[in-house]
Amino acid sequence: MPFRPRYTGLINKYRDRLPVQDDTRLISLGEGNTPLIKLNNIPGLLGKNVDIYVKYEGLNPTGSFKDRGMTMAVTKAVEEGSKAIICASTGNTSAAAAAYAARAGITAFVLIPEGKIAMGKLAQAMMHGAVVIQIKGNFDAGMQLVKEVAEQAPVTIVNSINPFRLQGQKTAAFEIVEELECAPDYHCLPVGNAGNISAHWMGYSEYRDQGIVNNSPVMVGYQAAGSAPFLRGHMVDNPETVATAIRIGHPQSWDKAWQVKDESGGWFDECTDEEILAAQKMLARKEGIFCEPASAASLAGAMRDIRGGRIPEGVKVVCTLTGHGLKDPDIAIRQSSAPPINVEAELEAVKAAILENMAS
Ligand code: F0G
Repeated sequence: MPFRPRYTGLINKYRDRLPVQDDTRLISLGEGNTPLIKLNNIPGLLGKNVDIYVKYEGLNPTGSFKDRGMTMAVTKAVEEGSKAIICASTGNTSAAAAAYAARAGITAFVLIPEGKIAMGKLAQAMMHGAVVIQIKGNFDAGMQLVKEVAEQAPVTIVNSINPFRLQGQKTAAFEIVEELECAPDYHCLPVGNAGNISAHWMGYSEYRDQGIVNNSPVMVGYQAAGSAPFLRGHMVDNPETVATAIRIGHPQSWDKAWQVKDESGGWFDECTDEEILAAQKMLARKEGIFCEPASAASLAGAMRDIRGGRIPEGVKVVCTLTGHGLKDPDIAIRQSSAPPINVEAELEAVKAAILENMAS
C-alpha cells in the first residue's frame, strides 16, 4: 500500500507516553510533526563549521508551540468535565486556548496585557470566540489574577502551570530525536515562563532514560535583556522588550528551569532587542524562514555563542522557533529596510523599478 496513515496529532502519535486513556475524547487540530530545517547559509556567514537546525513550531495550527500543550490541557479539561478554561497570556497561549476551546465546544477566558500583544494573536483570540479581558497590567499581574480567580470560579487554568501542558510540549523533543536519530548536542530556546525549556528537557530525559538514545543535549535558554530574571537571579517587576511574547518578569517554572540548567550542563544568557530583531531578519532573508521576534532570541543567542566558541565547532545545534512571523506583522514591517516601491501601472515604470533593483 503506497499510503501512510493520516497524521492525527501528537496525542495519537505518542499515546503511550501521555496521560490519556483509550477512550479519551481527543481535542486535536493535528498539531505537532513540525519541520526540522537545517540552515544552509547562516553557518557559513558565521564562518563556523556547525550544523544548525531550526524546529519551526510556527507551523502548528495556531502558529506557535502552544498547540502541543493546549491539545493535552484541553483534552484533560474536557475529560474532567470542565466547561470553561482560562489563561493569562502574552498572546500565543490565548490564541491556542481560544482555538482548542472552540474545537471542544467550551468557553475560553483570556487575560491579556492591554496594548502589549501582537496584532495577529489578538485577532486569533477574537476570531475563535474567546472572552478577551484586557488588563491594565502586564502578564505577571494577569497570571496572579488567573490563579486567584480559578479558586473561586469553575474554570480550568491552561497556562503552563497546568501539568498536562508540559506533557504535550515534551513531544517536540521526541520528534527532534527521531529525525536526527540522536539527541542534538545543544538545544537553544527563548525563555519566558520557562515552561517550554522544562518540557523539552522532560522529553529528552525520557528518551535517554529509556535507552532510546544514549545522549541528551546541553540546554541553553535565552531571554530578552529587559526581561531577564534568570540572568538577574531574581524576579523582575517591570519587564520590557520588543519581543512581547517573552515580556515576563516572574517566570512560573523558575525552579524547574534552574534544574534543567544544572542537569544538562547548560546556561542562560540574554539578548538585546537589537540582536533579536537582527536574527529575525537574517533568518528571513538568508534562509526564507519567518519567525516572530521572541523566537529569534534562540538563534540570536546561539549565533553569538557559536561565534564566541562557547558552542564549539563540529556539533549539532537545534534552535526552537516558537512562533510564526505572521503573528506580529507590525514589527516586521517596521524593521523592513526595503519598503514597497510605488509606481504607475505601466510597463516602463515597472521595468525601470526592476532594472534599478536588480542584484548585481
Ligand atoms: N516564544 C513564544 C513565541 C512565546 O509565545 C512564549 C511564551 C515563549 C517563547 C516562551 O515560552 O514561557 O515556555 O518559556 N508565551 C506565553 C504566552 C507566555 O502567553 O503565549 P515559555
